[in-house]
Amino acid sequence: MRLVSVQEAAELLRSGELVVVPTETVYGLAARADSAEAILKIYAAKGRPSSHPLIVHCGNAHQAAHMASDWPDLAQRFAERFWPGALTLVVSRGATVCSEATAGGATVGLRVPDHPVFQALLAACGLPLAAPSANRFTKLSPTRVEHLDPELLRHVAGVLDGGPCAVGIESSVVDVTVTPPALLRAGGISIEALRAVAPDIVAASQPSTKSPGQHSAHYQPGKRVKLEPAAGELTIRVEGGPKSVMPNDPAEYARQLYSVLHAMDAAPGDAIVVAEPPNTDAWAAVWDRLRRATASDDV
Ligand code: TXA
Ligand code: MG
Repeated sequence: MRLVSVQEAAELLRSGELVVVPTETVYGLAARADSAEAILKIYAAKGRPSSHPLIVHCGNAHQAAHMASDWPDLAQRFAERFWPGALTLVVSRGATVCSEATAGGATVGLRVPDHPVFQALLAACGLPLAAPSANRFTKLSPTRVEHLDPELLRHVAGVLDGGPCAVGIESSVVDVTVTPPALLRAGGISIEALRAVAPDIVAASQPSTKSPGQHSAHYQPGKRVKLEPAAGELTIRVEGGPKSVMPNDPAEYARQLYSVLHAMDAAPGDAIVVAEPPNTDAWAAVWDRLRRATASDDV
């Protein structure tokens, strides 16, 4: 893995290369959002179907609004409340975003990330950056550079290390092109918090056809993952191997989840067993990731 500085990363990205970037949610695999050639490298590195749209990251809400052909009042209110942060807004795609980034679709997912290193990078390269999570297709997302898959790294010109990700799971994805607005993916910002801006927001039924990355088998470690009823503590363990006691708070749990799953995956043993957390709205994003980690189909 070739660790690079912000300045080197900016130069590589401007010249159309891929760079792994830190965000507050998970590490991203970035390319300039206006270059079809650069974007196609992302799909090749991830082994991801070209029908799955990418999120375009911007330095601020003003730049993001320029990526849209229409910027509704609701988008502005979500942006003012949650950006920079773990919220992706789906709006109509503007002309400067290449169609490969949105899988040919008429909408684009936009996010202003809340990570100082990524913010410095966006300022240094002066370009919006398309970036999915920096994992191979269906696999576990990285929240530290140590989690990066060697196969993915073969396609990458540089890695920008920003330390462990503070949120630990991906952004919440909200479609504001529909009424009422739809939560396409539960994530770093809870539905309760989103209701402060849009009390009528609805959770899209899963898997959502509007968000093609939402196939059931996803976020999977190499080992099989099983759920068991919680007997007191919220544990994650390897059968016959190590055990971690997880925090009884959804945000803290989410922050540690992928890191613990990566560690359990590296430990000897066959299966990872996760104690079921509470079944409430506050745990929806954690539950979404656990369900997909345990799913056996691969749509
Ligand atoms: O936190 C995150 O969102 C991370 C960091 C790197 O920003 N990115 C991330 O990207 O998770 P990715 O590609 O792994 O997941 C993007 C999700 C997919 O479920 C995709 O279907 C949805 O966002 N999405 C992106 N653009 C969309 C669009 N135009 N319409 C509907 N869904 C979209
Ligand atoms: Mg992903």
